[in-house]
Amino acid sequence: MNNDRVIIFDTTLRDGEQSPGASMTKDEKLRIARALEKLKVDVIEAGFAIASPGDFAAVKLIADTIQDSTICSLSRAMDADIDRAAEALSGANSGRIHTFIATSPIHMQHKLRLQPDQVVEQAVHAVKRARNLCGDVEFSCEDAGRSELDFLCRIIEAAIDAGARTINIPDTVGYSIPHQFGEMIGQIIARVPNADKAVFSVHCHNDLGLAVANSLAAVNAGARQVECTINGLGERAGNAALEEIVMAIKTREDVLGVHTGIITENILSASRLVSGITGFAVQPNKAIVGANAFAHESGIHQDGVLKHRETYEIMSAQSVGWHTNRLSLGKLSGRNAFRSRLQELGIELASEADLNVAFARFKELADKKNEIFDEDLQALVSETLTEVVEHTKLVYLDVASRMGEIPQARVVLSIEGKESEATAAGSGPVDATFKAIEQIVRSDASLQLYSVNAITQGTDSQGEVTVRLEKAGRIVNGNGADTDIVVASAKAYINALNLMREGAYRAHPQAADV
Ligand code: KIV
Ligand code: ZN
Repeated sequence: MNNDRVIIFDTTLRDGEQSPGASMTKDEKLRIARALEKLKVDVIEAGFAIASPGDFAAVKLIADTIQDSTICSLSRAMDADIDRAAEALSGANSGRIHTFIATSPIHMQHKLRLQPDQVVEQAVHAVKRARNLCGDVEFSCEDAGRSELDFLCRIIEAAIDAGARTINIPDTVGYSIPHQFGEMIGQIIARVPNADKAVFSVHCHNDLGLAVANSLAAVNAGARQVECTINGLGERAGNAALEEIVMAIKTREDVLGVHTGIITENILSASRLVSGITGFAVQPNKAIVGANAFAHESGIHQDGVLKHRETYEIMSAQSVGWHTNRLSLGKLSGRNAFRSRLQELGIELASEADLNVAFARFKELADKKNEIFDEDLQALVSETLTEVVEHTKLVYLDVASRMGEIPQARVVLSIEGKESEATAAGSGPVDATFKAIEQIVRSDASLQLYSVNAITQGTDSQGEVTVRLEKAGRIVNGNGADTDIVVASAKAYINALNLMREGAYRAHPQAADV
């Protein structure tokens, strides 16, 4: 492999999904995987196959469908995990098993309760087993950021001898500082005798806001794979953001001297897709994909940019996909235009029946909204493709809200075909609506998050609402979109209730015992 090429390994569907409330359905994961393939991500970590039947099915579906990216499944250094990962990846054009074990004293002693020798033995056994099932094996030293250098060199050498071709050094708890992390990566590459037989990778968490800086310091020291997520989604403060890594490498090739294979013009649509599906809004001042990332407010800056763009812009908005996804369709657009715009957006509907449902929704929306943008189509298709069984449906909603008076909502729900009605008052129209829904369903769930995002600009924009409910430690995110935000809120609440009802248990890779 060309030594100037940095492999982009995206883990939005695995580590990103470990964000509380970011769980995605199988179909949503496939849509994100298609967007990642369009970006030309080299490796897509599609999930943790042993975690649950749903995770297995998602990894398998993605492995069976995606052709251009390598598809990877995470597995602890355990036989059952590795076998399950191999099974899920069996249909992949190019598959990878990613196995890991913790290497820091604190994890080995308190979590694994294993001696360092036992950890090396288990790692070697896992890598060999994975290599017997798959030609491409990655080994990770969990909590490498807090591991001892000598021990890291020892276990990495053994893992490479056992057949690992990618060695990942994660800063699992986001503890590292850029110059120190870069130094550590450089030392490992220099000291491991068989280092030339593997690609060195990094996987940085953002607890101190340093995930991207640490990843770039590692690239500077010789790492040639970076693990990252769209919008920096991930555990706690998240992972290194793909868009920031890729654009830093592209914009400062003069300093870093490396490149990636990413089609950067597809970054913004991937970012929007992930934020729409997870309900994790992108902050306006977020680098590359935030709404203000290329907005110039001050007169001096505007004047400079108009005279010569590069006075205040280090990269063009177009190079990451801004302004390329504007107006798409209107009220008079027909089925064929609708179908071909979906295809251009990388959205494939499974059947003509799905297309008919989506097209009917599009027509309804076009009656309320003059211009339909790509973001509207993404939201509309998300609703159409939802795999959740609609046990509870919204039939009718009537909200009265007048200045100085207490808002009231009347809701009619259909639960497994049987209609029920309730009326409630609340501190606002949304509060009244949720109370009325709860009077009918009595879910016992607590509302953890309510957020509204305008999908596009203008007051006729659809509001995209996320409702996060928690019950007995289980968290779900429901989404709903409509030009009426109270209706969108009711849809999101009901979506969360339906998801909660379907809920399946899934294991967490780092919490589960090895
Ligand atoms: O953060 C981490 O250490 C991980 C590993 C499983 C790679 O996500
Ligand atoms: Zn991680």
